[in-house]
Amino acid sequence: MTTATKQVLMERMEGLRQIPAIPAVLTPLLRYRQQPAEQLDAHKVTDLLAQDKALAAQCLQMANSPLFGRWRRVDSLRGAAVSLGFHHLSDIAMSCGVLNLLPGGTSELDPIVFWEHSLGCALVCRHFARKINFGDPSKAYLAGLLHDLGIIVNLWVLPKEFRGTYELARREGIPLHEAEQKSLGFTHCDSGQLLAEHWELSPELAEVVTHHHNPPGSLNHTGLVALVQLADLLCRMRGFNYGYIEERQVNLLEESGFAVLAQHCPSLREFDWARLTFEMDSYMDDVHSLVRAIYPS
Ligand SMILES: [Fe+2]
Ligand SMILES: [Fe+2]
Repeated sequence: MTTATKQVLMERMEGLRQIPAIPAVLTPLLRYRQQPAEQLDAHKVTDLLAQDKALAAQCLQMANSPLFGRWRRVDSLRGAAVSLGFHHLSDIAMSCGVLNLLPGGTSELDPIVFWEHSLGCALVCRHFARKINFGDPSKAYLAGLLHDLGIIVNLWVLPKEFRGTYELARREGIPLHEAEQKSLGFTHCDSGQLLAEHWELSPELAEVVTHHHNPPGSLNHTGLVALVQLADLLCRMRGFNYGYIEERQVNLLEESGFAVLAQHCPSLREFDWARLTFEMDSYMDDVHSLVRAIYPS
């Protein structure tokens, strides 16, 4: 983002005053997640969630979804902590926290569709990361979940302009970030970068938010950024889109993120994409029903 773009953006956002505050429970959770894995305790998540009853209720519903591999019904977050462990419970808490950030009904971009995209992308990132042995799957989940934070900023701060942008993207069947660049002069990567700074997200998450449409632009976390770029594209091409069809052929092997990620994970060159998309299709229905069940009406 150029300094001029940033200045324009900051002015429009009135010095960040309009940017949504991170839900109180999530700030300590984001910080806690950065500790070494052996020190992470799932009960810490339940203690944090105990401060927010509505969020806790949503988390419990999500904990009982097949998407989190539960093998028997859990009736309490304590039970979820025991059966799911730290990473899954923390992923659930983050997912519900983000869900509650969306403004209701002000945009053509249905908040449910947006959340399905974010949750779908998180799950695909986690799944994909496991398949190619890309480090920490929970980190990949969080990166997928938060990658489009800038869209939340745009929905809050520029609802009218964003409505026009979304209409343009849908009419022309072009990617949302291209429509934003055309009509707003910046993209959700730029506005997301501001929110990432405002929320003091970890440097790797901030790079994902800022560069997921252009992985070579990232400096230190190119592998994770590239993984999210590919997962995001897969989602947009296969039903977890933004509520419209993009009119273009995508060849993942020609995307900039593919070459970047292949440097980190050589097995990617022989990767079975058909199998991944088949497996992805199998949990799409679960995502739809989960989101519809817990979205606050
Ligand atoms: Fe995006
Ligand atoms: Fe996306």
